[in-house]
Amino acid sequence: METTQSARIALIEDDEIVRQATTQWLQLAGFDVVEFGLGNEAFDVIQHQAFDAIISDVRLPDIDGIMLLEKLIDSGVSAPVLIITGHGDVDMAVKALHLGAFDFIEKPFQPDRLSSRVSQAVEQFRAQTSTQLRGEYLASLSGLEKVLVGQSEVMKRLREQVARIALIDTNVIIYGETGCGKELVANSLHKGSGRKSHQFVPINCGAIPENLFESELFGHEAGAFTGAAKKRIGKLEYADKGTLFLDEIESMPAAMQVKVLRSLQENTVERVGGNKQINIDLRVVAAAKEDLREHPEFRQDLYYRLNVAQIYIPPLRERGEDILTLFEHFAKESNRNARSVSDADKKAMMSYGWPGNVRELRNVATRFALDNTMSVLEILSNRPVASSEPNSTGVPLAVQLHNFERKVLEEALTRHQGRINDVMQELDLPRRTLNQKMQKFGLNRSDFTDP
Ligand SMILES: Nc1ncnc2c1ncn2[C@@H]1O[C@H](COP(=O)(O)OP(=O)(O)OP(=O)(O)O)[C@@H](O)[C@H]1O
Ligand SMILES: [Mg+2]
Repeated sequence: METTQSARIALIEDDEIVRQATTQWLQLAGFDVVEFGLGNEAFDVIQHQAFDAIISDVRLPDIDGIMLLEKLIDSGVSAPVLIITGHGDVDMAVKALHLGAFDFIEKPFQPDRLSSRVSQAVEQFRAQTSTQLRGEYLASLSGLEKVLVGQSEVMKRLREQVARIALIDTNVIIYGETGCGKELVANSLHKGSGRKSHQFVPINCGAIPENLFESELFGHEAGAFTGAAKKRIGKLEYADKGTLFLDEIESMPAAMQVKVLRSLQENTVERVGGNKQINIDLRVVAAAKEDLREHPEFRQDLYYRLNVAQIYIPPLRERGEDILTLFEHFAKESNRNARSVSDADKKAMMSYGWPGNVRELRNVATRFALDNTMSVLEILSNRPVASSEPNSTGVPLAVQLHNFERKVLEEALTRHQGRINDVMQELDLPRRTLNQKMQKFGLNRSDFTDP
């Protein structure tokens, strides 16, 4: 890889044999390696010299790799850090990623996997710091404010991440619950990239019947099978020089995973019934609702190919006041003269769990804007409990519990026509707790009393 040549890497590993072997591998891959046996010794040097990436073992004699990572971040070192963890040490790995490690590598590792992760880290780091890209980055960031609406810290960070990753031509996995904006982010990545003048091609892997998958992705030659009268270009070929968006990638059939991986490795496609290798140049953005590593049917090698950069979109309920900002945005979009929202409605929206996320909010806002007789609270109360979305899988337990609890309270209040003492007795709840819960769910006694 051209760009990562002469990259300077700090390697921190106390086991001399492992250290020497790793150094040799990295040097063969074209890196300059500076070796350290102790964490603190490395820290002193790294603080004062420039490195393009840092690789550290977790277990070191003087300080553990996680503490070293924290120290480096606190002292303003911005080079990517890759942590080497013991096999199966998931907690440690998660902690490292949380603190801001670029990635973790599990022992024992394939040397070429380490060097390819290091290349990717270096490439991302350099792209981020190059001044030429800085201008493009800032321009695309300001454009994103109108597309990915929201002023919460998590949304600001998301926009920064999208603007930055858009500029690096790498594969990406986007994680997020249903309706939280995965496709919108994927599209923004395309529009902010050098591929924007070519196609953005979305494929919903969960919606294509298994027997049609291959032809859909790879296309076919005329007469390849019964019913294939004409030649057809597949989605991979169609996305050439552009971006391929593999939505719900966790539902891709196993046989297709193998074929897609091969296409991505070799940058070619072969149409069904054809024997010609057609060159393609793709950037793949994938979306998933669950962690693909926890998915036994998902191929690890395909996962690593796609997981060069990762974007996590937080659920709507974690975005605070953005709920109200987005509501207003969507309401105004449907009706320029939409009413303003009452305080009770604001409270209800802030305490609701939004299992269907932004899509659900958009639907509620549209109804509110077009029907002057309904309050938000009424619209929300008339909705099915878990989610009105076609797909309610992926709704976290906490949200389902939240909605269930709200429903139980609502039903009891209806049954007793708002008589608090009776509800307290039936549900065996102290008055204080009942009050707090009603407040939390935006339930008013007066809404249940007979007029
Ligand atoms: N931050 C945002 N600002 C404005 N609109 C948004 C935002 N996030 C999502 N939307 C809108 O919400 C709707 C749902 O978003 P999108 O389709 O991208 O979600 P998704 O995560 O792909 O959903 P699914 O999991 O169901 O495929 C779309 O209409 C999208 O334009
Ligand atoms: Mg989607």
